[in-house]
Amino acid sequence: MSNQENKTEQSKIYKEAPVTEPERQYYFIEQARKEAEKQSRELGRPLSFCCVTFGCQMNARDSEKLTGILEQAGYVEAENEEEADFVIYNTCTVRENANTRVYGRLGQLGRMKKQHPHKMIALCGCMMQEPEVVEKLKKSYRFVDLIFGTHNIFKFAELLYRRFETGQMVVDIWKDTDKIVEDLPVERKYPFKSGVNIMFGCNNFCSYCIVPYVRGRERSRNPRDIIREIKNLVADGVVEVMLLGQNVNSYGKNLEEPMSFAELLRQVEQIEGLKRIRFMTSHPKDLSDELIEVMAESKKICRHLHLPVQSGSSRILKQMNRRYTKEQYLELVEKIRRAMPDISLTTDIIVGFPGETEEDFEETLDVVRKVRYDSAFTFLYSPRTGTPAAAMENQVPEAVAKERFDRLLKEVQEIASQVCAVHEGTTQEVLVESVSEHDPSLLTGRMSNNLLVHFPGEKSLIGTLVPVYLKEAKGFYYMGMPADGA
Ligand code: 5AD
Ligand code: SF4
Repeated sequence: MSNQENKTEQSKIYKEAPVTEPERQYYFIEQARKEAEKQSRELGRPLSFCCVTFGCQMNARDSEKLTGILEQAGYVEAENEEEADFVIYNTCTVRENANTRVYGRLGQLGRMKKQHPHKMIALCGCMMQEPEVVEKLKKSYRFVDLIFGTHNIFKFAELLYRRFETGQMVVDIWKDTDKIVEDLPVERKYPFKSGVNIMFGCNNFCSYCIVPYVRGRERSRNPRDIIREIKNLVADGVVEVMLLGQNVNSYGKNLEEPMSFAELLRQVEQIEGLKRIRFMTSHPKDLSDELIEVMAESKKICRHLHLPVQSGSSRILKQMNRRYTKEQYLELVEKIRRAMPDISLTTDIIVGFPGETEEDFEETLDVVRKVRYDSAFTFLYSPRTGTPAAAMENQVPEAVAKERFDRLLKEVQEIASQVCAVHEGTTQEVLVESVSEHDPSLLTGRMSNNLLVHFPGEKSLIGTLVPVYLKEAKGFYYMGMPADGA
């Protein structure tokens, strides 16, 4: 084909593309597939991809969508980044070290690309929503082929096609969106469990957090779409869903017909064949009595609540714009425990927020000792450009923050190993997830409270719920054996 003919062909493709979604993306998947087939014929093998996920469960779910699109376009999964013809990094920017890791790995990818110039490199996710990042990539990482953000991830197929067609770096970042595109292909990592987005974005603007800037304003999915998706997942073998949102407790507030998160849970509970429901993340300020009631009555909602406290000092909480005090948080925990004494509580804690004094930090330790979390994710405060906290004057010296961090971690771990041990000698229902990574004669499963159990059993049990006797607590997991009758 001459260059001119090629151009005419390409403009025909754009002219013919449907304007509605998701039809438009299915059309571009098909176009990208034709191009990938052509390249694969030249190479004499199928094209391969590697999708690397940084960050949270939302990103993990997004990566399943990216994988679904690539597989429909004819790509097969590669063993690693080195072998892959197409590498995509789904990035996170919640803390600075997430960004540093991406640049480091990107440097390595650039060197690989020098040896294999046909290799394609794509970047997407939260980090791409930061203008400085994109500028830096455009300037110093010219070998990157495709850059897009969180709001237009649904357009991946179209952008991939555009990269094929132009042969040049494609950059497409949206500032925000009110759009939610349903029914795109998804390739699940696990056949028996799945994340399900119920909302996108966040309106809370905690003063340290970059998420509202990179994920945009809160948008809830229509409950009918959520229920339909879960029913389809169950028909496809899923027994456990994790409902995902930055702040699930404010689900449904902005819907045309507003609806509470508790009401959504009631509807999800009705889905026949679904065995377990999890959700994350809950903001303490929005956790309603109705939700506690629904959880307490439910047969399917797991006995686990992730309830980020961030700090135990009411003064720091105010600076963080969390909109609760230490006392309100502790009261909430008490209320939850009264309704569900066996609930497992986990949390996120930030150490070294600007202005944090030793007394403030002691308050955090006090909350940890009072609540006795099953586990806690602890983070060193990381200033994010553009957030109010990054501009605060009284930043805590790194050495001080690090010393507090170590003390906190020790406390959290000691308590967690005591708390986790309380189930020793009981029988618990476990969803079998895999063969144990450390010992192929063992299976690894997850209890309702999210703890892992390793026990002897047949591989065929993967994806099923089985009763397991918890023989020995090992700190953060259990060694078990199949209970009688299993
Ligand atoms: N520095 C450190 N930790 C942070 N988190 C969010 N932003 C920052 C930051 N700037 C933590 C919070 C949140 C978790 C996902 O990441 O604890 O709950
Ligand atoms: Fe960030 Fe706060 Fe929103 Fe969580 S609730 S994503 S910490 S702004």
